[in-house]
Amino acid sequence: MLSLSRSLRSSLPKAARLNCPRYITTQSSSTTPSSSETTTSRTASFGFKTVPEESKESLVKDVFDSVASSYDLMNDATSLGVHRLWKDSYVSALKPGRKGPMRCIDVAGGTGDIALRILDYARENYADRETSVAVVDINAQMLKEGFRRFKKTMYHNTPQISFHEANAQALPSEVFPDNTFDLYTIAFGIRNCTSIPSVLEEAHRVLKPGGTFACLEFSRVNNPLLSTLYDQYSFTMIPLLGTILAGDRDSYQYLVESIRKFPPQPEFAKMIREAGFATGDDVDGGAWQDMWGGIACVHKGVKL
Ligand SMILES: C[S@@+](CC[C@H](N)C(=O)[O-])C[C@H]1O[C@@H](n2cnc3c(N)ncnc32)[C@H](O)[C@@H]1O
Repeated sequence: MLSLSRSLRSSLPKAARLNCPRYITTQSSSTTPSSSETTTSRTASFGFKTVPEESKESLVKDVFDSVASSYDLMNDATSLGVHRLWKDSYVSALKPGRKGPMRCIDVAGGTGDIALRILDYARENYADRETSVAVVDINAQMLKEGFRRFKKTMYHNTPQISFHEANAQALPSEVFPDNTFDLYTIAFGIRNCTSIPSVLEEAHRVLKPGGTFACLEFSRVNNPLLSTLYDQYSFTMIPLLGTILAGDRDSYQYLVESIRKFPPQPEFAKMIREAGFATGDDVDGGAWQDMWGGIACVHKGVKL
């Protein structure tokens, strides 16, 4: 039996609570600790800091708890609106709905930016009102913002959209069985997860054979001049904007640092293949597609 999480239930208005239960499921991320979570000696990066692996998840949760209410505004401010272009291009290249209605899962979906684009794309281009997206995020506050936003759309209260509080590394199999989805998206989320291989393993499990894994993430800029300019902008302006607009320098400092800790394009492509996906060759335009010189990048894989 699916139920509303306590945090989501208490944070939603009463009417929403009555309307949304069948669309929101939950999983406690700590119910099935992985072997790594039980080992205290292992470490993970949290931005430029090294922290015990088991504490990264709650530190990341704190960041997104803190930024949730200002997340959309801050995304526009820090990227000067460019994140919208990247997301538009990411979704339109996937052509959701082209071959008929699709079952999609958008993991680390936050406030629903990608889900909304998938549904709009399918409807506007293929008159498709059956494609559906399950938005999954570990953070109830981010989901709450997404739920509130979808209330203003035609998708609210339809089977096309659902919100689920769960960890990308351990999707609850009773809600997300094996071989279920045609498309798995994850945008600007995977670098925040403690174990990238576990996320990829879960993506592989829930996709149908032939299904597509598509990840949009900040990546490695190879042009030295662009890289210097980008470093200067991101390490000075983004934490400053975080302070001014969101009153939170530390969270934005973490977000910038976490980008630099993410594996470069070929290394991430290798991890995708190791999880059982087929990718293109290890070149830009093959296994990945750089955007803006690698500031952002889309990696794709097909489940064999
Ligand atoms: C930068 S936001 C991206 C949100 C959205 N995909 C977008 O592009 O606007 C990263 C999201 O990843 C979520 N997240 C971090 N770790 C996660 C995990 N282990 N499982 C699921 N979601 C996670 C955060 O709560 C946050 O909502």
